[in-house]
Amino acid sequence: MSPVEECFVIAGGRPLRGDVTVSGSKNAALYAVAAGLLTADTLTLRDVPAIDDIEELAEILRGLGSRVEIEGETVRISTPTITSTAPPAEQVMRLRASFLVMGPLLARAHEAECVPPGGDVIGSRPLDVHFVGFRMLGAAVSRRGANWRAEASRLRGARIFFDYPSVLGTVNVLFAAVLAEGHSTIVNAAPEPEVAMAADLLNAMGAKVTGHGTPIIEVDGVASLHGADFAVIPDRLEAGTYLLAGAATGGDVRVTNAVPGHMDSLIAKLREMGLTVQADDATGIRATATGPLQAVQVQAVPYPGFATDLHPQMAAAMTQAQGNSLVHERVYDNRTLYVNELRKLGARMITAADTVIIEGPTPLVGSAVRALDIRAGAAVVVAGLAATGETTVHGIGHLDRGYAGLEDRLRALGAAIERR
Ligand code: EPU
Repeated sequence: MSPVEECFVIAGGRPLRGDVTVSGSKNAALYAVAAGLLTADTLTLRDVPAIDDIEELAEILRGLGSRVEIEGETVRISTPTITSTAPPAEQVMRLRASFLVMGPLLARAHEAECVPPGGDVIGSRPLDVHFVGFRMLGAAVSRRGANWRAEASRLRGARIFFDYPSVLGTVNVLFAAVLAEGHSTIVNAAPEPEVAMAADLLNAMGAKVTGHGTPIIEVDGVASLHGADFAVIPDRLEAGTYLLAGAATGGDVRVTNAVPGHMDSLIAKLREMGLTVQADDATGIRATATGPLQAVQVQAVPYPGFATDLHPQMAAAMTQAQGNSLVHERVYDNRTLYVNELRKLGARMITAADTVIIEGPTPLVGSAVRALDIRAGAAVVVAGLAATGETTVHGIGHLDRGYAGLEDRLRALGAAIERR
């Protein structure tokens, strides 16, 4: 974790140009690390990003009986025996993905107990989808003091319907279902690429999952899982952040390992904004500004719609587009905290409920701003890169949780950014 006093100082106003390779997906890597609890064998994960959230989850696993070794971008996990089924509250509250230990503990140790997890303050983030899934698989779920407790002497496959396609809910229930007896069907599952990757990993460990990447996932339970050697997919949100930083600065950025098939919604919007976008699996995604950006409208919705985790960065880029742009946030009810920070740089933005209207083009001028969560932090960095003069970004611990080597990657694209 970064010391509190660290900040980024950006001398903005330079177009970003060049190639950047992104890390493995933060969120997918977190799911993969949690999957290490599901087997007594060694799980080797490659392309795991060097970010604080991974360290935090590794520490939680260690407390539950796992041996976790992190060597660069390779993580090795082995959990011969689960020694605790109740991770400490202070650890669980540091990140949202900590709650993903529930499914594996329930499946392998027949019980799990956890406080509601922490995570970014971007809206109400219920857990009912997780509990509906566990209950349908035969678990008793109850509240014990501050903890949620799930227990089941055996899990049985079931047909499970989710009210909402929660990402972590889908992964947690999938973790339990792969070791349940018999067949499960999860209806209205999250189809995000990171969820699909988690299912691919489980299959590499001996699970029988089909339909992942669609809203209906089918699972044939197996008695146990074995180890695997598995590479995490590239981070589409990190890739999108660099492409939007390029767009906001009128630059030309190529993300060499981005997977175009995971980023249709962003590619379409970048083209609509007037950027020339070349996208293929071999060379990644390149977005080139060839003239002024045009205003667009975006709705942040579950995948494959426009990602809520790119909403703030997109809004930052929209300050440089000609005309009134609009973002309608439909996933979180408190995503727009970044708006006040962008206003400090001169952005003209109006919020009404979950909608943000952005007037452009607006010359931004450097100022002192705060990273309020991971993506709000990315938005102020994007805006700071587009602003003339010096922008100081405080609260960069949030960025260190989710972006590996952010300042190095931006510097390689020609940005003047340093950590102080
Ligand atoms: N929701 C429900 N019921 C539930 C759970 C969620 O209605 O039981 C609703 C929430 O109210 C919210 C929406 O679902 O409106 C999103 O919550 P979801 O459960 O899908 O999010 P999550 O699984 O907690 C993951 C990512 C988030 C990302 C969301 C949506 C991780 C660790 N987190 O969260 O990532 O925004 O999916 O794609 O994977 C980030 O990376 O910056 C981040 C916040």
